[in-house]
Amino acid sequence: MSALPMVVPEPGLPTEVTIYEVGARDGLQNEKTSVPTEVKAEFVRRLLGAGLPIVEATSFVHPKWVPQLADAAELMTGLTAELGDAARQLPVLVPNQRGLDRAVELGLRHVAVFASATETFASKNLNRTLESQFEMFEPTIAAALAAGMDVRGYVSMCFGDPWEGAVPVEQVVAVGKRLLDLGVGQLSLGDTIGVATAGHVRSLVAAFADAGVGCERLALHFHDTYGQALTNVHAGLQAGITTFDASAGGLGGCPYAKSATGNLATEDLVWFLTGLGIEHGVDLDAVVGTSVWMAGQLGRPSPSAVVRALGGTPG
Ligand code: HMG
Ligand code: MG
Repeated sequence: MSALPMVVPEPGLPTEVTIYEVGARDGLQNEKTSVPTEVKAEFVRRLLGAGLPIVEATSFVHPKWVPQLADAAELMTGLTAELGDAARQLPVLVPNQRGLDRAVELGLRHVAVFASATETFASKNLNRTLESQFEMFEPTIAAALAAGMDVRGYVSMCFGDPWEGAVPVEQVVAVGKRLLDLGVGQLSLGDTIGVATAGHVRSLVAAFADAGVGCERLALHFHDTYGQALTNVHAGLQAGITTFDASAGGLGGCPYAKSATGNLATEDLVWFLTGLGIEHGVDLDAVVGTSVWMAGQLGRPSPSAVVRALGGTPG
């Protein structure tokens, strides 16, 4: 460990980036077996300790739909008892009013709804049509805002859908705009199955700009199925994006998206940003140590190239 890339800034890129860590949610929702609640809590604590500024902790979805995160309330209760207000600031996913009620009961302050850009995925992931997903989100977002909470809006299948194929950029912008109009603060544009390429990223960000949505409202959420995630981050940086989602160790996927693999690994992103001299505030060794520890818990090595290069064997 303790290796770092040489710092060679590239003119024109942002000087500071926010890494939005999704490993405890997007990573663990996809594990074949449920990880014990105490291991999840330790994972979240370690990620916070590594300097990650935003750590999405879990999902208040239907436990039959995602049994891996059925212990969401128990996890958040334990973390709140230990960390107090810091735990209440951790974002959680809520698809609907029932999920929001569960988050409100625990005093949580940040929630995220998750929409689909395609008809098929809206049905598979939310049991709704493309149109009726908004009937579910509208009262949920309104109630969250009325309770003084901050709401993020994910859009999935922004760059392609395993059932429908290509997804028109205008369709993605239309779904994103509707979430923004309902009051979400930030949109996270998800490449759920990892098929995005750099030109496509630039064209989607440009299409949002043409629709009046600037980079400050957007985050990019890449899965690394085809090894394009960092190239796509570079395209996003060139377009002016300053928030990127990533998952420690490259854990992740979506149980309802055929062919979704792990997210962009946080360590790979940190290495890349560090080399460019872009501020991120994250301690690379501490995240690598966390992912090596988690790989030991899960019984398989991390897919992240940087974890493999720096981390040695799982312990
Ligand atoms: P549904 O079956 O249509 O639900 O599922 P419903 O509204 O008809 O309610 C049926 C029953 O479920 C009711 O109970 C509700 O109370 C209960 P009953 O009255 O029959 O006893 N219920 C709940 N219980 C607990 N928590 C809840 C909840 N909601 C209803 N929140 C639903 C609709 C949205 C709930 C379901 O489809 C669901 O839970 N989906 C979640 C799928 C999911 O979590 N997918 C992964 C996250 S998205 C992702 O990974 C992509 C992302 O990373 C970005 C990217 O990569 O693209 C974000
Ligand atoms: Mg995802």
